[in-house]
Amino acid sequence: MADPASDYDVIIIGAGAAGLMCAATAGYRGRRVLVLDHAKKPGRKILMSGGGRCNFTNMNSTPANFLSDNPHYCISALKRYTPQDFLDLVDRHGVEYEEKAPGQLFCQHSAKDILDVLLTECDWSGAEIRLKTTVTAVEEAHPGYRITTNAGPLRCQSLVIATGGLSIPTMGATGFGYDIARQFGLQVLPTRAGLVPFTLPQPLKEQLAPLSGVSYPVEAQCNGQSFREPMLVTHRGLSGPAMLQISSYWHPGDTLAINLLPGQSILNDLMALRDERPQATVAHYLNQHLPRRFAQAFNDLQGWQGPLQGYRNSDIEQVAEVLEGWRVKPGGTEGYRTAEVTLGGVDTRQLSSKTMAVADRPDIFFIGEVVDVTGHLGGHNFQWAWASGVAAGNVA
Ligand code: FDA
Repeated sequence: MADPASDYDVIIIGAGAAGLMCAATAGYRGRRVLVLDHAKKPGRKILMSGGGRCNFTNMNSTPANFLSDNPHYCISALKRYTPQDFLDLVDRHGVEYEEKAPGQLFCQHSAKDILDVLLTECDWSGAEIRLKTTVTAVEEAHPGYRITTNAGPLRCQSLVIATGGLSIPTMGATGFGYDIARQFGLQVLPTRAGLVPFTLPQPLKEQLAPLSGVSYPVEAQCNGQSFREPMLVTHRGLSGPAMLQISSYWHPGDTLAINLLPGQSILNDLMALRDERPQATVAHYLNQHLPRRFAQAFNDLQGWQGPLQGYRNSDIEQVAEVLEGWRVKPGGTEGYRTAEVTLGGVDTRQLSSKTMAVADRPDIFFIGEVVDVTGHLGGHNFQWAWASGVAAGNVA
């Protein structure tokens, strides 16, 4: 006989962005929903996101903003729940927001506003949230699933895994979702940290250390991708949006090419400067275009000395080449400790792109960051959490 205290239509493991969105969606369909999380509080990554103001969507989000081994997988869910749909929800709750960069919407006051929207929606839909609950086992119960937790056994018809990725382990990130995927015969693609700062090897790290805090726009390239955004020098290496974005395309051993003066005709500029002011130096040119501290340090790093009149055409070509594609081989990344996302994860080839359910098990779902869909920086990752959460919530 069904026990109302422990039997649910839907159990969702993970009270993060995707899990809460899924819970409210399923709850509004009249399903009896329980969300479990081992953390003390729900949605902790939402609270820390966007520097505390949560970049909750990107109005220009398209499937091209996502990395996956199966790039078409995300299209259907993203099409059926769009940034405008989430914005409408935010508007209904009266949350004030601002567009900080084209398409990137942030809360005007606090990321807590977005978490409040989700918790209110869960409350209105009747979805229950149980925190400080650790799931120790999941078994098939024919029909449905038996869930063993530190607070006793539970049963459900549909099980949704929304446990996120491995980034920021101090926030409760675990590989539990991957274990469940393997238990049910799914492939888990190799994972690695994405949207993460680079560390630099010595002596470059030491040479750039005095520039810590300097930020300016560059174009970073790696493995056929490029991003034109600001780069920030830190005391450990290179960060800022340009570096975070390109880090998702970087593999250990790869070299980055960084155009320090994107949009500038460097070769023509330097040739013209040599003609007009033969006594000018490369440092003079750099000072006009780069933050002064960086210009000086970079010039010293390259050992460019003397007036331009002493430079042959081939010397100037070489200078331009370095400035257009400064080659940097990072020592590594800061890893999951500071990464915003985890690349890889549950292989989507075994999931339905319409429902997020396992192909031959329509009652178990994987949503959000646990699956092999990773967005660019700029609100795309939350948009995937909302869209995949709604896709599963509509059928779970
Ligand atoms: P999420 O990680 O949000 O939730 C997973 C939940 O599962 C957690 O509550 C966790 O406690 C729980 N859990 C894990 N293992 C469990 C277990 N074994 N048992 C029970 N519960 C378990 N994205 C964006 O679009 N805009 C932004 O501004 C930012 N900013 C940002 C800043 C920082 C510092 C980080 C780290 C990340 C971002 N992101 C972001 C990325 C974004 O936060 C991320 O993609 C989503 O939170 C993913 O949502 P999920 O619900 O999939 O996982």
